[in-house]
Amino acid sequence: MAIEIIATGRAIPPTRLTNDDLAMKLDTSDEWIRSHTGICARHIADEDTACSNLALEAARQALTMVVQQEGGSGNETQDLVDVALTLDVIILGTATPDYLGCPSTACVVQDKLGARNAAALDITAGCSGFIYGLEIAAGLLGTGSRRKRALVIGSEILSRFVDWTDRGMCILFGDGAGAAIVEKTENPGLTKRGLLRTILGADGSGTEHLIMRRGGSRNPYKTGELVGVPPHIEMNGQAVYNFAVKRVTETIEKLLSQENITIDDVSRIVPHQANARIVQAAGKRLGIPEEKFFLNIKEYANTSAASIPIALDELNRAGSLQKGDLIMTIGFGGGLTYGGNLIIW
Ligand code: COA
Repeated sequence: MAIEIIATGRAIPPTRLTNDDLAMKLDTSDEWIRSHTGICARHIADEDTACSNLALEAARQALTMVVQQEGGSGNETQDLVDVALTLDVIILGTATPDYLGCPSTACVVQDKLGARNAAALDITAGCSGFIYGLEIAAGLLGTGSRRKRALVIGSEILSRFVDWTDRGMCILFGDGAGAAIVEKTENPGLTKRGLLRTILGADGSGTEHLIMRRGGSRNPYKTGELVGVPPHIEMNGQAVYNFAVKRVTETIEKLLSQENITIDDVSRIVPHQANARIVQAAGKRLGIPEEKFFLNIKEYANTSAASIPIALDELNRAGSLQKGDLIMTIGFGGGLTYGGNLIIW
């Protein structure tokens, strides 16, 4: 048995906000943002777009890829519904859901796709959401289960939860969604395929370092407070930076040693796109050439749980992932959480 990614999709809002655009409103510059983060632009959802809208678009793209592989009837709408009906579970990683707590954004997506046979749940693992989601999908589809297909999505509207007057924060984030269809395939041969190994971790002592303090049961809004005061993400940038470099380095080392392979066996590392300097620092510590890491942070900034599936979809659609390639994902985020997957494409 193998758990394979058979299709991918992404959704990027068309509105592009460059560093120069930000520098017109804030005391910052393109030079500072580029040199400290590697970011040049980010995409921002319009007012009417919620997390589920981006998730839905990314999911439809991935489902369309399945239709193309399986050969549909030619009636696009019906073909999409038919494939959606083959989904057994929808897992959606997000820190910026449509609604606080209930209903899950995954349920909104399930309804809009017409995926009536799918269970649906959101997971809160910050920017590690997709890495966690793949492993949860593998568990739900695993040996003995009758479930066969999962849709794993990372979707975020971070622009709605950053303080646009805080130059240390708002420059970092963007909106977007990425999706993958994961399927259990029988693998009678000895060749390894699909999701090979996952490491997941958390360090709850770092909850304060990346936090949306207001709006939950710990600190609910009082009457009249809601208007015009959305909760904002607060961050201790230095603490997150140090945590990230340490955990990314450790997780790469562990994935390699547990699988008894070297970095030369890995075709591509797809890291969470938070700050190019974090990736470069970890790569330097481990002696990994920069070209091994796929970075698209320049264009999208940090899209949290969406960043890895967006990157996977870009690589996949560009034909840069060959069957049999060993791909490593690696990430970290609010919680604090971290993890990585090794996947044979
Ligand atoms: N433009 C210009 N100057 C800025 C700025 C901006 N956008 N943001 C901060 N500065 C200034 C600071 O005010 C500070 O000025 P001072 O020295 O006069 O006080 C100076 O630049 C250095 O700030 P500092 O916070 O020390 O910068 P840094 O090199 O640590 O970079 C981050 C800050 C946020 C880019 C970095 O800490 C980081 O990437 N952390 C990880 C964040 C992350 O990945 N979060 C998401 C996790 S999923």
